[in-house]
Amino acid sequence: MNTNVQRPKEIKVRKFVLKPIPATKHYAKQIFDIFHEDADAFNFWMEYGLYKNIDEVLTEYKNKNKDRGFCKYAMYGIFYGDELLGEIGLGCIYVRRQTAEVGYWLKKSARHRGIIDLLLPKIEKLGFETYGLHKLTIWCDNENIAVKKQAKKHGYTREGLLREEKIWPDGSPHSTVLFGKLKSEWVAQNKK
Ligand SMILES: CC(C)(COP(=O)(O)OP(=O)(O)OC[C@H]1O[C@@H](n2cnc3c(N)ncnc32)[C@H](O)[C@@H]1OP(=O)(O)O)[C@@H](O)C(=O)NCCC(=O)NCCS
Repeated sequence: MNTNVQRPKEIKVRKFVLKPIPATKHYAKQIFDIFHEDADAFNFWMEYGLYKNIDEVLTEYKNKNKDRGFCKYAMYGIFYGDELLGEIGLGCIYVRRQTAEVGYWLKKSARHRGIIDLLLPKIEKLGFETYGLHKLTIWCDNENIAVKKQAKKHGYTREGLLREEKIWPDGSPHSTVLFGKLKSEWVAQNKK
């Protein structure tokens, strides 16, 4: 792994710009509203429940851009002009293991337009080429059909099901699916 790599400040993909979401009240409010207007979809993602208030979002975004020793962070806001459409990136890069978890979300009005299909390969390039990682993973709720379809479509291997490993705030048990892609697989897929 390239341990000294500086995360790119901005990645342009056609009309979209990927850049860190500023930790300001303005964006915290947008994120709060986006998640609450579509609670059913975001419940799949928020194990501990949706944000309770805007300050909670603000605190999270102030802290999450800081690298921790074992875990670097490379998440990007997805911007179309000034509009924040969602977020995508490497939620945790495990330096010693040379692996990272891919994470993403889109606001409701930005879905079904193939935006993740367009951006996911760029994030894979960031992980495998820029950071020199060995493996990327996608973890999702077993009921999250969109992500399961996308992982399969983008050539990830379903590695396992963690049965009822999460308890949601309403008390219901939920299972998590793990998908993985090795660098060797990514190289082979990109030769085609
Ligand atoms: C995950 C997410 C970004 C996907 O949005 P998207 O990239 O626009 O993807 P789509 O909604 O087009 O769904 C992808 C595919 O799954 C299909 N799909 C989605 N929901 C489905 C459902 N309930 N039943 C059947 N198929 C479904 C879509 O038709 C599409 O199929 P296609 O590729 O053949 O056209 C969005 O749902 C989201 O933000 N969810 C909340 C956060 C989240 O779960 N993040 C992932 C954490 S790992």
